[in-house]
Amino acid sequence: MKPLVILLSFTFFSTTLYANSHSQQHFDTGGLSRESFPEGFLFGTAASAYQVEGMASEDGRGPSIWDAFVKTPGHIANNETGEVSIDQYHRYKEDVDLMQMLNFDAYRFSISWSRIFPRITPHANLYHYDLPLALQEKYLGLLDRQVIQDFADYAEFCFKTFGDRVKTWMTFNEPRVVAALGFDNGINPPNRCSKKFGNCTDGNSATEPYIAAHHLILSHAEAVKRYREKYQAKQNGRIGIFLDFVWYEPLTRSKADNYAAQRARDFHIGWFLHPLVYGKYPRTMQKIVRERLPKFTKSEVEKVKNSFDVLCLNHYTSYYIYEPHQAPSNVTGYQQDWNAGFAYERNGVPIGRRAHSEWLYEVPWGMYKAITYVKKHYGSPNIILSENGMDDPGNLTFPESLYDINRVSFYRSYLKELKRAMDDGANVSGYFAWSILDNFEWLLGYTSRFGLVYVDHNDLKRYPKLSAYWFKQMLERKNS
Ligand SMILES: *[C@@H]1O[C@H](CO)[C@@H](O)[C@H](O)[C@H]1NC(C)=O
Ligand SMILES: *[C@@H]1O[C@H](CO)[C@@H](O)[C@H](O)[C@H]1NC(C)=O
Ligand SMILES: *[C@@H]1O[C@H](CO)[C@@H](O)[C@H](O)[C@H]1NC(C)=O
Ligand SMILES: *[C@@H]1O[C@H](CO)[C@@H](O)[C@H](O)[C@H]1NC(C)=O
Ligand SMILES: *[C@@H]1O[C@H](CO)[C@@H](O)[C@H](O)[C@H]1NC(C)=O
Repeated sequence: MKPLVILLSFTFFSTTLYANSHSQQHFDTGGLSRESFPEGFLFGTAASAYQVEGMASEDGRGPSIWDAFVKTPGHIANNETGEVSIDQYHRYKEDVDLMQMLNFDAYRFSISWSRIFPRITPHANLYHYDLPLALQEKYLGLLDRQVIQDFADYAEFCFKTFGDRVKTWMTFNEPRVVAALGFDNGINPPNRCSKKFGNCTDGNSATEPYIAAHHLILSHAEAVKRYREKYQAKQNGRIGIFLDFVWYEPLTRSKADNYAAQRARDFHIGWFLHPLVYGKYPRTMQKIVRERLPKFTKSEVEKVKNSFDVLCLNHYTSYYIYEPHQAPSNVTGYQQDWNAGFAYERNGVPIGRRAHSEWLYEVPWGMYKAITYVKKHYGSPNIILSENGMDDPGNLTFPESLYDINRVSFYRSYLKELKRAMDDGANVSGYFAWSILDNFEWLLGYTSRFGLVYVDHNDLKRYPKLSAYWFKQMLERKNS
């Protein structure tokens, strides 16, 4: 901490001096090093197409539902778009060099379905919120079964075209977020919901989130089937999916709060993971959602069951859950169905330090509980912790923004808990920090900075923050 304080008092900031002093600074890694993790464990960073690429309407790319959405004033902070973002379309070589300089092994990116066309191990995701606008307009996208065939055709094109280089495929990023934010409260495109739950012109929060989720699961399963039948043996790769998982801790030890927290876990990760492991939705969901919950046919059960080689978990935060004191309202919707109250403190003590994003509290022990829960309830799958990180406000001035000591502490404490879960038997084979660079943070536009590397949005220059150098030191290869 000492050298930090001294540097902060410099009135003249030299990036060369900064880089030289921090690439050699000795950090507290909390005892962590590459050797703390098993041989072959991958450390990477993650990002997604629309958030980093830029060139959104050039080189033949067609629009996705996000390109249409960002054009409406008021949707994104400061009316920003990903039209240019951080221009990784042109600067990818520089960015991959940065990742290597920081000792990372892998990069998780996504292919833009509506663009179609990778020295670091590529982990490619086929869908990161960006459905082609044409499919939304043609048949309402995820609400129509046709999307299953169309997605599988697109996925197969990618296996065929890039499968000689890409050995880890993922079908969807956070399908739960796609279904809930797109169809329950409608804050993300395609902005559908019941009037009671948001500002949408059309939609039905009681049924559409479940229909969209069902089609996402079947699209995933069909793509996995084609990969396994036609490409996997020849290409020698693996396939999986990214699921987001918030840890839900009962607020009190009461039975009611424990049940409420379990409902929350079932409606969150269980909604997708239960079918992918067991071929059916969690029993709590079947009992609560009843006839509004679509059913898998016999052949779909077989296709959906065990439809991943590796399970990617995006984990950032944890909340307390309690049994609500009032009866639920008479208007039905997905979030309503949880019948769960959220709390961010217990007896006046916050669950953790809040990052810039209002949903993101720093709760390292939640990492241990989330991983251990999935191990115990879902047959100890092979897990990649595929997103983890925190954001600062976008307007933190430069160079203060580079001294991200909260982020260093965040990563150190979460990685210690990940290691603890692994020491207790969880099968985890990789970890990806979100994100390598500050980028377009969806609704928050550029008002949020998740990067290990600062981006000056005026000239798009990249400057590693302290957290980047922390990783560089932690990931040093001792015997290479
Ligand atoms: C976004 O655009 C709308 C409509 O043009 C305008 O009223 C609003 O002030 C803009 N917001 C910002 C932060 O520029
Ligand atoms: C709802 O959306 C309409 C159309 O996009 C917009 O004009 C209106 O201000 C929004 N209302 C609220 C409460 O956000
Ligand atoms: C729900 O309750 C409100 C008032 O409590 C009432 O106005 C509304 O008609 C009810 N809606 C339904 C679908 O029963
Ligand atoms: C972890 O998962 C991998 C991939 O499925 C498997 O090869 C390995 O045997 C598993 N390790 C343990 C300890 O279960
Ligand atoms: C930074 O932005 C936040 C809103 O996101 C605002 O409350 C704060 O005043 C801004 N700070 C500066 C230094 O501009």
